[in-house]
Amino acid sequence: MASLNTLFVFCISLSGTITIFSDAITLKPCMFNSTCSCNNADGYIDLHPIANNNNTPHFSNVTDGYNHVYSFNPCYGFDEGSVCQNAAICQLDTTANKYNVIGYADTVRSVSSSMYGLMFKYSSTTDMPQPSRNRTAYVVLVCDATKEGELQFVQEDPVNEFYFYLYSTHACAIPPAPTSPGAATRTFWTPPPPPVRTTAGPPTTPSPTSLPVIFSQKAEVVLMLCILIVLIILCGLVILSVCVFSARLKSTNNEKAELGQSANYGTKDETKIRLKTDF
Ligand SMILES: *[C@@H]1O[C@H](CO)[C@@H](O)[C@H](O)[C@H]1NC(C)=O
Ligand SMILES: *[C@@H]1O[C@H](CO)[C@@H](O)[C@H](O)[C@H]1NC(C)=O
Ligand SMILES: *[C@@H]1O[C@H](CO)[C@@H](O)[C@H](O)[C@H]1NC(C)=O
Repeated sequence: MASLNTLFVFCISLSGTITIFSDAITLKPCMFNSTCSCNNADGYIDLHPIANNNNTPHFSNVTDGYNHVYSFNPCYGFDEGSVCQNAAICQLDTTANKYNVIGYADTVRSVSSSMYGLMFKYSSTTDMPQPSRNRTAYVVLVCDATKEGELQFVQEDPVNEFYFYLYSTHACAIPPAPTSPGAATRTFWTPPPPPVRTTAGPPTTPSPTSLPVIFSQKAEVVLMLCILIVLIILCGLVILSVCVFSARLKSTNNEKAELGQSANYGTKDETKIRLKTDF
């Protein structure tokens, strides 16, 4: 019974986990075709309209609510102070008046996160000023048609990993243009099977493994396996309990029969035998 209880609790927590997972954002890796534009399952995202191309940051003075302000520029690197050179994200400690590079422009990668959706990731390794540090900035692309561009500091958690929300209409994916005039209305159109090939060579599709995805689909596979195992265990338990139940039913019937006998004969020996067969 204790093990059944444990299983019950496990199932409850598992279903909770499944609920959280199904609420999670679908992974849509984005393939860069410039330093700030990429294509994913939703379409094309291009941050060029909110990027400066004159060595200055488009977003600046973004506060963390304490003593730091941040500057950010997509697409092109900028310089700030003597420390931030070719930066994508630069931090200024306003009390110490000290600059830190959070991410260099040429380190940009797209990250598809089940928690945040699409993010642009920038990183830096700095030996100077001391102490040497690796910092990472995640700019979460928040599609907001009402905003041209607004950068908001979210958190530094864990330390040296900085999260920002970029609210922008340019963070919204533009669906690919229809290839033919009649194609605009066919949302769920299924193409006919391709004609039989006469020339060799299958069409090449881009390998998804080449994409930098930190929150990989492995977690989903593990979850699926877990569910499968639990289902197998559950089936086993159902079969087992049916067996045990029928066995008990039988023994109860036997007991009843024996009770009838002992009522007829009333001998102590028979009572002993009955007690032995009892669980
Ligand atoms: C990137 O892809 C988009 C749409 O797929 C296209 O419009 C754009 O011209 C491409 N840019 C570059 C630099 O290749
Ligand atoms: C930065 O923002 C603060 C308030 O958030 C403001 O007082 C200050 O003038 C701003 N500085 C610049 C350079 O824009
Ligand atoms: C920074 O990262 C590099 C390579 O990614 C690693 O070799 C180095 O030890 C890291 N430095 C610190 C201070 O974490």
